[in-house]
Amino acid sequence: MENPPTILLVLALLCVSVVATTRTKLQSINNLDVVGICKSMVETQGYTCQEHQVTTEDGYILGLQRIPKGRSGNEIADRQPVLLQHGLLLDASSWLLNPPDQSLAFILADNGFDVWLANSRGTKSSRGHTSLSPDDDPSYWDWSWDELASHDLPAFFHYVNNQTGQKLHYVGHSLGTLTALAAFSQEKLLNLLRSAALLAPVAYLGQMSSLFVRILMDIFLAEKLKLLGLHEFPNGQTQQLVEFICTLPGIDCSNLLTTITGPNCCLSSSSKDALFKHFPEPTATKNFIHLSQMVRRGTLKMHDYDLEDTNMEHYNQPTPPAYNMTNIPKNVPLFLSYGLRDKLSDANDVGLLLDNLKDHDKDKLVVQYREEYAHIDFILSMNANQVVYDPLMAFFRLH
Ligand SMILES: *[C@@H]1O[C@H](CO)[C@@H](O)[C@H](O)[C@H]1NC(C)=O
Ligand SMILES: *[C@@H]1O[C@H](CO)[C@@H](O)[C@H](O)[C@H]1NC(C)=O
Repeated sequence: MENPPTILLVLALLCVSVVATTRTKLQSINNLDVVGICKSMVETQGYTCQEHQVTTEDGYILGLQRIPKGRSGNEIADRQPVLLQHGLLLDASSWLLNPPDQSLAFILADNGFDVWLANSRGTKSSRGHTSLSPDDDPSYWDWSWDELASHDLPAFFHYVNNQTGQKLHYVGHSLGTLTALAAFSQEKLLNLLRSAALLAPVAYLGQMSSLFVRILMDIFLAEKLKLLGLHEFPNGQTQQLVEFICTLPGIDCSNLLTTITGPNCCLSSSSKDALFKHFPEPTATKNFIHLSQMVRRGTLKMHDYDLEDTNMEHYNQPTPPAYNMTNIPKNVPLFLSYGLRDKLSDANDVGLLLDNLKDHDKDKLVVQYREEYAHIDFILSMNANQVVYDPLMAFFRLH
């Protein structure tokens, strides 16, 4: 059952933690934590920006940035809210890294939308909790993307809906598509949703392509990750692991971005520099374990404790419940865009999702694929404004 190729995800992400450690050091020197995303990345481009906070039902205090209007400052009545949800190991900065005419958050604001940027628990803007400390309480890190779908996402949706009195458009990238698909498949949040755009969509991970190292890492990683327990990821131990992995034949740690995400077609060197200033943001080790289960088993289920008793405690059944994509109501407006060179959101896995959606209302589903795109092109490519964001906004305007 276990499917070695998917090791790449975990492996490649581990490699990145070398960079992470460096960044953490820099961060404490520059004290970037104190300067929020609004001040450091939005106001500097001439846009108004507001920092908001929302508390989840399980106590996480999450940061949310709002860009209420475009650069021209023209008041447009009835701006429709759009919630942007970043992917794994990133945060809201992922929508702001390019110049304003190339970054989705700014483009949406300039085109009349009220833009809200979510930050998942554990990232720089979202490290608060009503009782737990990310640094001192391992249980702060006791979550996987199940909780991002069942707690973070509803908290953001309800907050934005409450602030604006309107239903939301949604844009997710990568893991930000998986959490939304999971919620929609349980028919959650749909009463607050206008339409959803899913960039580099992830539902299944079992065919994630990996050119090298599948065999190498299978058992090794599975065991290592379990030994790490409940933790922030990356952490100190990860680095040693990474350094070791980078010495192994066939692993190219000199071009991490391509190793991890595929050969992105259209990133400028300044975009890449900007990305690496914000990448990787922390997540939970448990989230990685959950993702590696999906990769190695090809499953789309809740986190598996791999012990019947423990699964019984959590789920009242010996195996974790599945997320069933065929349960997504057929009239939910969905815009999907995927890349044929994407090493994380593999085209074959996207194919499985599309097969689940084959009975979707034809006028409610737009699917586009970009032959030249890999995983990061969707947020950082120089031409994404024309080839992805223009059609995305046209879709939003229809719904
Ligand atoms: C937002 O929430 C507050 C407090 O719960 C409530 O009084 C208010 O009516 C809500 N506003 C909207 C637009 O839903
Ligand atoms: C998903 O639901 C459909 C329809 O209810 C069912 O036929 C299918 O077996 C389910 N798939 C899984 C993986 O549970």
